[in-house]
Amino acid sequence: MRTLKLGETGLEVSALGLGCVGLSEFYGPVDREESLATLRAAADAGMTFLDTSDYYGIDSANERMIGEFLAKGGGDRSGFTVATKFGPVREPGTGELLGVRSDPAYVRTACEASLRRLGTDHIDLYYVHHPDFVTPIEETVGAMAELVAAGKVRHLGLSNVSAAELRAGHKMHPITAVQNEWSLFTREYEDTVVPVCAELGIGFVAYSPFSRGFLTGRHTSTDGLAEDDIRRSMPRFDASNATHNAALLAPIRRIAEARGATMAQVALAWLLHRPDMHHIAVVPIPGTRSPARLRENANALSLPLTSEELAALDSIAQQVKGDRMPPPPDLD
Ligand SMILES: NC(=O)c1ccc[n+]([C@@H]2O[C@H](COP(=O)([O-])OP(=O)(O)OC[C@H]3O[C@@H](n4cnc5c(N)ncnc54)[C@H](OP(=O)(O)O)[C@@H]3O)[C@@H](O)[C@H]2O)c1
Repeated sequence: MRTLKLGETGLEVSALGLGCVGLSEFYGPVDREESLATLRAAADAGMTFLDTSDYYGIDSANERMIGEFLAKGGGDRSGFTVATKFGPVREPGTGELLGVRSDPAYVRTACEASLRRLGTDHIDLYYVHHPDFVTPIEETVGAMAELVAAGKVRHLGLSNVSAAELRAGHKMHPITAVQNEWSLFTREYEDTVVPVCAELGIGFVAYSPFSRGFLTGRHTSTDGLAEDDIRRSMPRFDASNATHNAALLAPIRRIAEARGATMAQVALAWLLHRPDMHHIAVVPIPGTRSPARLRENANALSLPLTSEELAALDSIAQQVKGDRMPPPPDLD
């Protein structure tokens, strides 16, 4: 798989990353052996940019699994770029969301815990998962910069941030990448965060590139989803919106059929064209629990779309019904 430069701080990553959250929770039943096989398939495909968070899995199970994989099954740790995040605070044992913290003391503690779970002496790319609603972003990034100075973290990222937060954070320390949602269904950052990335030389890591599976045509309603599947709470999957949104997939399906590709590949190929339009580095991090689907997703890199095909996909996002996220929980 080809690699590319993310931001201007010297980080080189695979052109597609693996979003790891589903390997531990949120998107249906988890099969540990299959999850480890998926991580091995990522390594085989050269998809060496792994995206996790201390939020993923009860007691940060996702980081623990990646740590075990890197130690035992994955071979050389240096072959992987490990990105993780801090911010949401969960109750040990139950995983209940208690709040969000991005104050300096918390940043330091969270980093130590992630290093321990990942079994490594450094994190390649460390993000604030979501800024809390109190700490100025300058203070958060200031504390993250100290981790870089101490050699515990190599590069800094901000996730779920506004253009103003990105600018303010970048003044404190060069930000390598922003990680926000971007897909054929979610284009709300193209006029805000994306121009700031272009101006400041910051890469864009596109999360939920399939709009949580919807764009693949495989998950277009809550039918058949597990009781605890996070999509049951998401407005776009709600019965009041899902039928309308499923009809919007028609041009994706048409292009996929004409090209002998899958809808997932077309959705990723569209994102892989964003650098031509916006002059920034864009790395999608599709999530999957399956080695076969991972290989399918990797093959999107050899599916350049024509300008006619891109034009046919252009108006989908503006017709989508339902917010990308449920309303935030009421936290004390
Ligand atoms: N920073 C943040 O706040 C934030 C928020 C959300 C996500 N993320 C990151 O972004 C990553 C990706 O986003 P996501 O996992 O939320 O959603 P996504 O990548 O848009 O979609 C994942 C869903 O698509 C399905 N899928 C994957 N490849 C497929 C294929 N080829 N054909 C059919 N279905 C396919 C997966 O099912 P299977 O697993 O069954 O293949 C899963 O249900 C996450 O893993 C996480 O690392 C970050």
